[in-house]
Amino acid sequence: MGTESTEAAIEALLDEQRTFPPPDEFASRAIVADDSVYRRAEEDPEGFWRGLADEFLDWLTEPTKGLEWDPPHCTWFADGELNVAANCLDRHVEAGRGDRVAYHWVGEPESESADLTYGEMLREVSRLANALRTLGVSKGDRVGIYMGMVPELPIAMLACARIGAPHVVVFGGFSSESLAERLRDSGARLLITQDEGWRKGGKVPLKVNADAAADAAPTVERLVVFRRTGDEVPWNDDRDVWWHDAVAGEPDECEPERMGAEDTLYLLHTSGTTAKPKGVQHTSAGYLLHAAVTHKWIFDIHDDTIWWCAADVGWVTGHSYIVYGPLCNGTTSVLYEGDPAYPDWDRHWEIVERYQVNSYYTAPTLIRSFVKMGEDYPARHDLSSLRLLGTVGEPINPEAWVWYWKVIGGERCPVVDTWWQTETGGILITPLPGLTTLKPGSATVPFPGIKPAILDEQGNPVPQGQGGFLTVKHPWPGMFRTLWEDDERYVSNYFSKYGPETYFTGDGAKQDSDGYYWLMGRIDDVINVAGHRLSTTEIESTLVEHEAVAEAAATGAADPERGQRIVCFVLLKGGYEPSDELAEELRQFVAAKIGKIARPAAVLFGDDLPKTRSGKIMRRLLKDIAEGHELGDTTTLRDAAVVDDLKQKADVALGRAG
Ligand code: WTA
Repeated sequence: MGTESTEAAIEALLDEQRTFPPPDEFASRAIVADDSVYRRAEEDPEGFWRGLADEFLDWLTEPTKGLEWDPPHCTWFADGELNVAANCLDRHVEAGRGDRVAYHWVGEPESESADLTYGEMLREVSRLANALRTLGVSKGDRVGIYMGMVPELPIAMLACARIGAPHVVVFGGFSSESLAERLRDSGARLLITQDEGWRKGGKVPLKVNADAAADAAPTVERLVVFRRTGDEVPWNDDRDVWWHDAVAGEPDECEPERMGAEDTLYLLHTSGTTAKPKGVQHTSAGYLLHAAVTHKWIFDIHDDTIWWCAADVGWVTGHSYIVYGPLCNGTTSVLYEGDPAYPDWDRHWEIVERYQVNSYYTAPTLIRSFVKMGEDYPARHDLSSLRLLGTVGEPINPEAWVWYWKVIGGERCPVVDTWWQTETGGILITPLPGLTTLKPGSATVPFPGIKPAILDEQGNPVPQGQGGFLTVKHPWPGMFRTLWEDDERYVSNYFSKYGPETYFTGDGAKQDSDGYYWLMGRIDDVINVAGHRLSTTEIESTLVEHEAVAEAAATGAADPERGQRIVCFVLLKGGYEPSDELAEELRQFVAAKIGKIARPAAVLFGDDLPKTRSGKIMRRLLKDIAEGHELGDTTTLRDAAVVDDLKQKADVALGRAG
């Protein structure tokens, strides 16, 4: 990185000239309307966070300590005590806000919905927490959770937090093997699951998967099963207990455990596709503080804001911005169980209209699907309640950004592009919507108190305008403290490249002349053609500028002459047919936009791209397809048939067939 060609590669993104200052109407009532927060945090990051810890959290024992840093390890507020569930529920109820809705829950079947107040949440959490104690779970025990998007999922997480048992949530779309691996890694004693979940109008056999996983994870002694669909499921009387039976007769009050600030709140495994998943370990106080402050400031959460983070609770985005941040702030959220396309592509907009959602947060991959489906779907609904839009998870191409701003936001809502990772706990690079002038495609500037640096291979800061490795130089409260039972890997993965004081993110980035950050995707997504490095993000962003292209993924395939060659996978918009002419046109289009060096060796059309169930494109598989290798593990794919189809096409196009 940092070569001239990297420059060329990202040029089109930086050429994006449009800028969007905060609309006056928005800025005049923004939560953060004064840029002195940046100065205060810059001068004294520790004091800045200490002040916020007073403001945002309820302590059982006030901390006297702030940051203690013994690189690469740190603690925040180490001698403080609190309970996270009490911060998320009890104090709102005690302040007389028990009748406020915590979740407007929307089931996938259209007839189902329910509102849960903070008071109801507290009672349900307390009953389950008591039941878990009755079942033998005590402070420090790990509890697995494998559920769909039902209110009982946050209830289960908070019940664990209440008794000090770290939860290990595993996304309900994972296979039983992935679940078993995470249960074994964390040594979970109990697993909370449900009979079945709903997805795209079909039923997901969660209990059947949970059974297989529990059989393969010897530490798991009991299963607690929430009844969702009511269908009959296999049952083991010695091991399984229905949720409703477990809580029957349990009191709806439960003394919260006194937890140290640094006690583990949860483990969450990152979605590694090749290596063993890593159990990212988050604390109680620092994590909760970071989630709550970033939630309120970045998404501009007022007392009456209706908030919807359309992620899955099974990922870190859901942990921080569906559960902990919003509940700590006493916010009313939407929680939707199902698929955005069920029964049709306007489901999200119907829900926005129904609940008058003000702030909406989703991923670029879904935004691009919305673009592909066209403007008629949002046009069916009144979206005028929206004040702010957010995006997370991957770089967003400026075209999708502008579409989101225009078609969904009615040219009225700031779009906050938020950069962060499972490891960081909460958002690190982001606009503050009342202050920051936006540039489509850029996550803009560091959150107050966060000190990123873009370094070259040797650890020198790259000059502004050049690409390099994104690092963070100073600890923040929400950062993970280690990897579960693998501190060595924590050190070697994240703190060996540049030493123990510099967190290595694994992402590439560059800063433009205004100091704005442009994320270039994972380092391993960089393609090296004849010694020239190109960002896959850049090529993809260019391809989707073409009128025929809905989605695109680029990968580097080994090439004996040029190091790598670029192979692109393209999903066309409705009304366009794959053809050799169109493939050629797209190759020339990329060459014209970025430079000849970026001209793809092949453009392949598919009916879909291989994605994980969370919507991330599986680049390792694309690489295997492009290079004609045997395909690796495809069990985490949303639709495994997609890769077979692409593999055949690749073999034909790249001359390997027959
Ligand atoms: C990518 C998700 C560009 C990045 C919260 C990071 C982004 C990885 C953005 C973490 C963004 C996340 N712009 N890239 N706004 N947000 N990423 O752990 O490559 O699932 O390293 O956390 O997603 O993914 P994770």
